[in-house]
Amino acid sequence: MRVLVTGGAGFLGSHLCDAMLAEEHSIVCADNLLTGRMENLAHLGRESRFEFLQQDVCEAFDPGKIDYLFHFASPASPVDYLKHGIETLRVGSAGTINCLEIAKKYNAKFLLASTSECYGDPLEHPQKESYWGHVNSIGPRSVYDEAKRFAEAATMAYHRYHAVDTRIVRIFNTYGPRLQIDDGRVISNFMRQALRGEDLTVYGDGMQTRSFCCVSDEIAGILALSKSEEHLPVNIGNPTEFTMLKCAEVVLEVTGSASKIRFELLPQDDPKQRRPDITKARTLLGWEPKIDLRTGLQLSLNYFREAVLANSSAACR
Ligand SMILES: NC(=O)c1ccc[n+]([C@@H]2O[C@H](COP(=O)([O-])OP(=O)(O)OC[C@H]3O[C@@H](n4cnc5c(N)ncnc54)[C@H](O)[C@@H]3O)[C@@H](O)[C@H]2O)c1
Repeated sequence: MRVLVTGGAGFLGSHLCDAMLAEEHSIVCADNLLTGRMENLAHLGRESRFEFLQQDVCEAFDPGKIDYLFHFASPASPVDYLKHGIETLRVGSAGTINCLEIAKKYNAKFLLASTSECYGDPLEHPQKESYWGHVNSIGPRSVYDEAKRFAEAATMAYHRYHAVDTRIVRIFNTYGPRLQIDDGRVISNFMRQALRGEDLTVYGDGMQTRSFCCVSDEIAGILALSKSEEHLPVNIGNPTEFTMLKCAEVVLEVTGSASKIRFELLPQDDPKQRRPDITKARTLLGWEPKIDLRTGLQLSLNYFREAVLANSSAACR
């Protein structure tokens, strides 16, 4: 297949490109480098089946005939989407419509990278795909949450009105190599702080919970969904729940750091609990995550070490 990956210079998009190349497909990656980095694709420099387009997907563009479109372009971390609020709304709305038009034009399959943030601060635990969510449409995080909810609505509309062959994955917190170390997400924060010997900041009382999925598990789930016939959203994430406090302890253990834990005020609209119900992915796709948090962090340790070093030497220059 010839596959278009939007947001392919980002954390998940670059791993997706690797996985699709390993399956012998040709990739066109469209990315405006708003939050992504060419370093994430540096290893593909000599790959003849890989093509990079520096492109804002909110603007009209034509990648040529494609068979599958994976729409991953969007700031994803709280630091990024709060900094780029309008861009986040645009890529979720205008960008998604543009991509759906491309899929329609070439009769290509389409997969939207959606998010657990569609559930907002959920009143149901764990979250099943049938739960409609509890989202503050005017809070600071709404630029991301509502953009993704619009993107889901647009995807379903193109499926219903134009028979585009669509999929929607609701991705839950994912970590691993190439995660930006200063993106404000829990794992990157804790790993960066632990490796620099700084205090680990835990918000509130640290009893709020999250679940974390290793990137290789996440990509395997997304690929399984892309090959299925399911058009409605499917949660892909790791259902094992950790309190923030426990997560901080695991990071200290894996990094061997002597850092302490410091408590700070809880940010606005910070969900108290988030955990996927993955029954649908298990039954429909035969998929479930294989890598636990401790193992996943050990597998990512070298990357985080190097990223922290590179970041500190850049700061010294
Ligand atoms: N990482 C996670 O845990 C997670 C969780 C839920 C959902 N997601 C979704 O997965 C996707 C990828 O997330 P990520 O963690 O890799 O984020 P990322 O920031 O690393 O990657 C996003 C990529 O999109 C690009 N981009 C942004 N706006 C663009 C535009 N207008 N045109 C072209 N490219 C644009 C960025 O430059 C970047 O390369 C996002 O859609 C995100 O919402 C990620």
